[in-house]
Amino acid sequence: MRKLEQLYEGKAKKVFRTDEEKIYFVEYKDDATAFDGKKKGTIDDKGVVNNRVSAKMFNILKEKGIENHFVELIDDRKMLVKAVEIVQVEVIIRNIATGSMVRRYGVEDGILLDPTVIEYSYKSDEYGDPLMNSYHIKAMNLATDEELAVMKEVAFKVNDILKETFAKLDLTLVDFKIEFGRYDGRIILADEISPDTCRLWDKKTNERMDKDRFRHDLGNVKATYQEILKRVESL
Ligand code: TMP
Ligand code: ASP
Repeated sequence: MRKLEQLYEGKAKKVFRTDEEKIYFVEYKDDATAFDGKKKGTIDDKGVVNNRVSAKMFNILKEKGIENHFVELIDDRKMLVKAVEIVQVEVIIRNIATGSMVRRYGVEDGILLDPTVIEYSYKSDEYGDPLMNSYHIKAMNLATDEELAVMKEVAFKVNDILKETFAKLDLTLVDFKIEFGRYDGRIILADEISPDTCRLWDKKTNERMDKDRFRHDLGNVKATYQEILKRVESL
């Protein structure tokens, strides 16, 4: 498959057309941003880690019946994916309260949430990814009720599978963000599943093993990403 022109460059990935209409080429970058792009930096080989971790997670999810955009790994930084049209809604699942949930509502950091919380936010750097509900999503024509119902159901299933998978690696899945796309008239899981998009706490030491190390300058950023890759590849 030939890589053709670049279609899009986001904060963490570039997307290219290929000579096959329904397949895109995704290249993962080392660039790291936080707080709506206000904090910028790079994490050495983050692109490699996120590409390989995403590939593994997408394969596991596929085996468990969750259709997703992953097709195959090309090399350390590149994968082929199905050419989806991304729904401009980020779906966040929270098992444990931390991050913006604590900042926004003042709940105690680290408490188990019962029930598990689902949030939607508008995928817009310009407006700072604001929280939204199902009425905004429908009124702004971002997704239909039927599409949103699929996204919600899949998000909770993904949570169950990822929680179990990361638990085997001595990691607690605290929260994560996923995105969906339209493909052949269906809604399928897309984007990435990585330490950039999941909060992972070491079960033994409670250490932050994800992008929070970069967001909050906790140190050992590169080594932590490498450790996640090592654990994930042991699966
Ligand atoms: P938050 O607590 O900052 O809202 O983050 C919730 C989860 O979503 C966390 O796992 C990190 C992930 N996330 C992204 O993947 N992209 C983003 O732009 C933000 C703000 C969070
Ligand atoms: N990726 C987001 C940004 O660049 C935020 C984050 O992950 O914290 O702002």
